[in-house]
Amino acid sequence: MAAAALACLVLAACGGAPADIPAERAATPESDPVELDAIQADTTPPAVPLSDPWATTSLAPGGEQREPLREPDVIYHPTPDEVVAQMLDIADVGPGDVLYDLGAGDGRINITAAREHGTRGVGIEIDPLLVDYARHVAAEAGVGHLVNFVEDDMFEADLSQATVVTLYLLPDLNLRLRPKLLSLAPGTRIVSHNYHMDDWRPDESRQVGESVVYLWRVPEEIPAHLRE
Ligand SMILES: C[S@@+](CC[C@H](N)C(=O)[O-])C[C@H]1O[C@@H](n2cnc3c(N)ncnc32)[C@H](O)[C@@H]1O
Repeated sequence: MAAAALACLVLAACGGAPADIPAERAATPESDPVELDAIQADTTPPAVPLSDPWATTSLAPGGEQREPLREPDVIYHPTPDEVVAQMLDIADVGPGDVLYDLGAGDGRINITAAREHGTRGVGIEIDPLLVDYARHVAAEAGVGHLVNFVEDDMFEADLSQATVVTLYLLPDLNLRLRPKLLSLAPGTRIVSHNYHMDDWRPDESRQVGESVVYLWRVPEEIPAHLRE
């Protein structure tokens, strides 16, 4: 989906348009490599006032309209806050965890984990507009030193440092990711909003309003039926 169309979705979700952003506040930060040391070290104060989350996106006047690396596999749709809370609860996240959200959208799962549980993390997101937006919101929430948002394709990204992976995608995308997830360190927790993993049965699940949250732990030994 084009960045412009995604922008409309984000605007709809956030209930407002960036009506009066001065041109001199436009900026389009380049994506950073996924380096956890850099996450901890990044205490650089934001270069723009933090009251306007659109000021650092390509929606700002003069902003460079960068297109996603390729067509996103699923459109942006945010997980409701109460579901985010239950995803973090079922995974029992804490300050020792490193949470990767695949298809991070506006960054809410990483940002809530950092703010509420002190959890470091990386949000992998293919749309540069959403990456810029999530970075800005993280800085405004005071957790820019704990989370990093990276413009990347989740199928290509290195997840080896994850202790928790969160997903709100589609059933076929969960299945395409399954071998990559099963190759992570034993004990890594995988949490999915709404969509399961076919015959990789969850260790736990819970209903949250109209949503279901699933939890898997990567096993020590991969059962034969889950090997490729
Ligand atoms: C349904 S939204 C979920 C957003 C967020 N994780 C949440 O739960 O609120 C899915 C996100 O995945 C992103 N996406 C789609 N294909 C992707 C890919 N191949 N790599 C990284 N992100 C992708 C979309 O741009 C979108 O923001």
